[in-house]
Amino acid sequence: MAPQTEHDPARHDPGQPILMFDSGVGGLSVLAALRRLLPQAPVIYVADNAGLPYGQKSEAEIAARVSGLLGRMTERLRPRLVCIACNTASTIALAAVRDVLEVPIVGTVPAIKPAAAMTQSGVIGLLGTEATIRQGYVDRLEALFAADKILLRHGAPELVTAAEARLRGHPVDPAAARRAVAALRAMPGGDRIDTVVLACTHFPLIANELHESFGPGVRFVDGAEGIARRIVSLTQGQEFARCEPDLALFTRDEKDLAELTPALSAAGLERIALF
Ligand code: DGL
Repeated sequence: MAPQTEHDPARHDPGQPILMFDSGVGGLSVLAALRRLLPQAPVIYVADNAGLPYGQKSEAEIAARVSGLLGRMTERLRPRLVCIACNTASTIALAAVRDVLEVPIVGTVPAIKPAAAMTQSGVIGLLGTEATIRQGYVDRLEALFAADKILLRHGAPELVTAAEARLRGHPVDPAAARRAVAALRAMPGGDRIDTVVLACTHFPLIANELHESFGPGVRFVDGAEGIARRIVSLTQGQEFARCEPDLALFTRDEKDLAELTPALSAAGLERIALF
């Protein structure tokens, strides 16, 4: 019998979960893409609500927090793969997390490359958190894939709040989307934006409000499909079997967590617990 290598798919127990990590419930937009490609994969979805919002934290805080949490979580939960769905966490902490964890890690890449291929006008908008938009990681993607385009960035923390509210069943104030769009449109060349990178997991959850504010002729692109495809490729040949209902884990108890039950259940997360 051939010796088992480190990546031998046979060593995975079919019930071993994929751990999907986000600062909040924004990563459910990524989980939806994964469900379409790998509906049978058991998932533990982690929302670090005690740390939300990441977008207003320092790089050092985010790197320490995400690697510490994921270190403890992988030890306790033994996932076969960790997906850092959160753009802020990925663009800041991916390398640090990879340094400390043995398990395969899939990070998020703001979708600048596909946006550059899609734009006709040559002007791309990028909406992310304030922490994401200032990252060298984004500068490098811009230099690599959009050097001949104009990339206009805007940090929109209130859209994170709006998406969290939506999934709790609260109404979303469309003015938040209007303000974010107005900020991009006001930049030089902003009137020619025809493609927008949603570089935050939360933003696809309020895409309707954003579409309405941008008006017709503006297309959105995010990283969810790409992440899902990457997970499929890294788990090729592995068996999956869901032995118990999928779990949503939160890092802090909050009185409104129960309001998330319908959204979590719609995402196939039938159990809620605290980590
Ligand atoms: N969901 C996170 C992202 O994709 C950001 C939200 C936050 O500020 O924590 O960047």
